[in-house]
Amino acid sequence: MCGIIGVLGTHEVAPVLVDALKRLEYRGYDSAGIATVHNGKLDRRRALGKLINLSDLLVHEPLIGKSGIGHTRWATHGEPTVKNAHPHISGRVSVVHNGIIENFQELLKELKACGYAPTTQTDTETVSMLVDHYLSQGETPLQSVRNCLTKLNGAFGLCFLFEGEEDLIIATRKGSPLAIGYGDGEIYVGSDAIALAPMTDRISYLEEGDIAVLSRSQVSIEDKDSSPANREIRTIRSGSNRFEKDGYTHFMEKEIYEQPSVIAQNLKHYISDTGQITLNGINLDFSSIERITLVACGTAFYACLTAKYWFEKLARIPVDVDVASEFRYRTPPVAANTLAIFVSQSGETADTLAALRYCKDKAAHIWSVTNVTESSIARESDVDLPIYAGIEIGVASTKAFTCQLTVLLTLALKAASDQNQINDHKRHEILSSMQSLPSLINLALNCSENLRFVANELAHATDILFLGRGLLFPLALEGALKLKEISYIHAEAYAAGELKHGPIALIDETVPVVVMAPQDSLFDKTLSNVQEVMARKGRILMIADAKALKDAGQGFWKAIEMPHCHEIISPIIYAIPAQMLAYYTALAKGTDVDQPRNLAKSVTVE
Ligand code: M6R
Repeated sequence: MCGIIGVLGTHEVAPVLVDALKRLEYRGYDSAGIATVHNGKLDRRRALGKLINLSDLLVHEPLIGKSGIGHTRWATHGEPTVKNAHPHISGRVSVVHNGIIENFQELLKELKACGYAPTTQTDTETVSMLVDHYLSQGETPLQSVRNCLTKLNGAFGLCFLFEGEEDLIIATRKGSPLAIGYGDGEIYVGSDAIALAPMTDRISYLEEGDIAVLSRSQVSIEDKDSSPANREIRTIRSGSNRFEKDGYTHFMEKEIYEQPSVIAQNLKHYISDTGQITLNGINLDFSSIERITLVACGTAFYACLTAKYWFEKLARIPVDVDVASEFRYRTPPVAANTLAIFVSQSGETADTLAALRYCKDKAAHIWSVTNVTESSIARESDVDLPIYAGIEIGVASTKAFTCQLTVLLTLALKAASDQNQINDHKRHEILSSMQSLPSLINLALNCSENLRFVANELAHATDILFLGRGLLFPLALEGALKLKEISYIHAEAYAAGELKHGPIALIDETVPVVVMAPQDSLFDKTLSNVQEVMARKGRILMIADAKALKDAGQGFWKAIEMPHCHEIISPIIYAIPAQMLAYYTALAKGTDVDQPRNLAKSVTVE
């Protein structure tokens, strides 16, 4: 979603702002802009499309000033146009915003009555007009922002710059995260620490309702009750190479190839060298848990769906899995002792966070599985289980997915032990198969050339089906999502056994059908479904291990051989070809892999 940056610098700030916006590109955007205050006057430059357009504009029309704010916009209200791009300026106020002002229509009516005329279709402009309105009544910038906040409904991270104030930025958040960075005589504010990374590694995070008044020499923060607040300044691991592609063409490709090492890292935290489940040193006990609710969005939801199979199979604990946006408005009954687990790479997904708060309200036990330990979801949980994937830049989630799966499988195994549902032999068998994940993933990565070859042909398809059974069904869903996201080819996934209940009508010689079918306990069943497709001239891309391919016989359109693995870890291993298939298909189509159209990395609006 929208990226925010603000800098009170000691040098010209425009290049610094644009550079920081580049680091926020991964969040997804359709236009960008910056504003500065110089000699007391506000000025701005905005451009549609990629940041290069803004940079070009700045070459011809430079923007001077040492204090500024910047924004990458992911349109919600009003189409992507230069006019609707941020920063917005109303009178003496400029603002950048991430989130949605839900009552902006109502506010607009009041503002129009006061003589304001909107120049954009955005919800955000009401914020700058409101603050300007209070300023013109003689209020200070801080009081004007305070007054404005009392009128706003919705979610926001906001950053204000004021005419005549070259040593002042005011930042505030409700729902959308903001980080403050402390530099050498300079102060920064950004949507996340990534934006600030090369400038400083000293970061503090604003909490819900905080207002931060920034100057070069001082940051003062007040909380939602207007009391002074101290937000701990932490030194974060910045390592700017974490934001480099390291020779790969795309971040997504780099992140696919990082999976052996990040999963090894993940295992180190959750399983000891001697094969004991250590759960990152966190003491968790499942012995009295009777039911688990798992909630997430997108890829993280498919990780939850896989975990349902694991928890139910290994620990015999019933599991409900829900898409967060449905869960939160269905107002489901949640018993006070329910264990609710929220899975989110970013830890900021608005729907998942709202679902978490709903469960918290009902006194459920709240655990989360996140990749950002400072995120709202991690901080608002009773227990956060980090996935150690390292920063994920590609909009299409890859390594976070397999790391989420690894943590969730470890939890399911712990639950099975606590519930006395598994004997030592079986537990060790699964744990040792988990220890082999990095090497098996390396073997799976070796299929890249074959997958690239197949992908070149898939790129001509207009519809593709994915099939899987049991543990491979959620992965089929994930494979279809990955392909849709970055190649823009319509893809759907079905439980293999469900095909004949309707979707088989779609099968003809033009529709490739990707089947993920390791030689597991359901293989024969899947094979029957594959035969049904082939009997209708369907083109099968069979992804399976050597034995499965041999047993399956002839007649496939294409086959990709995967390493043999324990059935229980197959979703993690088969995630690799699913990701690579999407990646190479997107490459063949020439789409924007790391920033696919219309998508945002972290969805902080509902
Ligand atoms: O940050 P989160 O894991 O909460 O994000 C959830 C989804 O928005 C995310 O998984 C999305 O579906 C990805 N683009 C998938 O590749």
